[in-house]
Amino acid sequence: MSDTDRVALAFSGGLDTTVCVPLLEEEYGYDEVIGVTVDVGQPEKEFAEAEETAEALGVENYVVDAREEFAQLCLRSVKANATYQGYPLGTALARPVIAEAILDVALEQDCTALAHGCTGKGNDQLRFEAVWRNSPLDVIAPVRELGLTREWEKEYALERDLPVEGGSEGRYSVDTNLWSRSIEGSELEDPATIPEDDIYDWTTNPSGKEAELVEITFEAGEPVALDGEDIGPVALIETLNEQAGAHGVGRTDMMEDRMLGLKVRENYEHPAATVLLTAHEALEGLVLTQEERQFKQQIDQQWSLKGYQGLIDSPFVDALEGFIESTQSRVTGTVTVKLEGGHCRPVARESDYAVYSESAASFDEEDVIGGITQEDATGVAKYHGFQSRLANRAIENARKNE
Ligand code: ARG
Repeated sequence: MSDTDRVALAFSGGLDTTVCVPLLEEEYGYDEVIGVTVDVGQPEKEFAEAEETAEALGVENYVVDAREEFAQLCLRSVKANATYQGYPLGTALARPVIAEAILDVALEQDCTALAHGCTGKGNDQLRFEAVWRNSPLDVIAPVRELGLTREWEKEYALERDLPVEGGSEGRYSVDTNLWSRSIEGSELEDPATIPEDDIYDWTTNPSGKEAELVEITFEAGEPVALDGEDIGPVALIETLNEQAGAHGVGRTDMMEDRMLGLKVRENYEHPAATVLLTAHEALEGLVLTQEERQFKQQIDQQWSLKGYQGLIDSPFVDALEGFIESTQSRVTGTVTVKLEGGHCRPVARESDYAVYSESAASFDEEDVIGGITQEDATGVAKYHGFQSRLANRAIENARKNE
């Protein structure tokens, strides 16, 4: 053990995490703060900003590349068709990955505590701490614990001459990773305000662009090839973000119910997520039975909720994935989607596991399985709705007797 009390801070170089550095030393009495920035696919300039700010603060900043791991988790979420109230969980899924990576650095560097710059209103504090509180280290949330506001932070930074002006934080609060780009704040906080076009960075206004087809190949529920070419998770997501983003695919403007109950207006961009989720669901439509599809919606919804909460590391999620994995063994095949005018829709699907049978659907051959013929449906048709008819008759008779 070292004799300096060291704390590892989730560091982005933004206002919140920057003011955390002197506060951790002065208010919390730590001898040394180390920063950790985890790469889950943020734009290059965010790393430059983190590095510059860390240097100006005299803080050693560790950068951990977790893109591959995060991309794999995103693809795992596709098997569960995971969205929460319409949002494909980019920020949410990234948090446990980031938290684990910071914990690893903290343990390596003999830190006694972990800190984040999240406020007490959002989801991220809960997602980070769900991971960290499973470790022997102390957990510190200066912004929440000291009740800081953005205004106070700006003032404090000015007084202390902290390096915050050159930051990339514009009018909006943006969180970007491979799976989604979230835009919050400023006039967007009013749900009645129509967003300006400049909030979007990944998606282009789709007017006039010619439609494009994309073919995705799945193996056991996982996308493995794009237009017939094998491709790894990170490259697949990056390519589709660009390709589908050019058609304006994957914009979401929604009201989101946060974990603590707060309702917020959120804007997201997630072109690759939209394409992969659309294609995956289309393939499930071809290969899964009706009852599997119906029940899987409930499983998927539970998975999504746990994903949103940052609680995918649990026996419950393992159990949900038991069902999911057992269905995914047949989710093998290809789907073609059409990108056009801000939309992505499946236009073709193929699989050796297709439950669909052309001869059964068209009655070209009468003998499908077990010699079923059209006339066999007569008995079924006679019974269909039988109980409702009984009930309706009972209601009618009872009224007559009133
Ligand atoms: N509300 C979203 C979530 O909890 C994303 C928030 C991202 N943060 C931001 N500053 N834009 O998953």
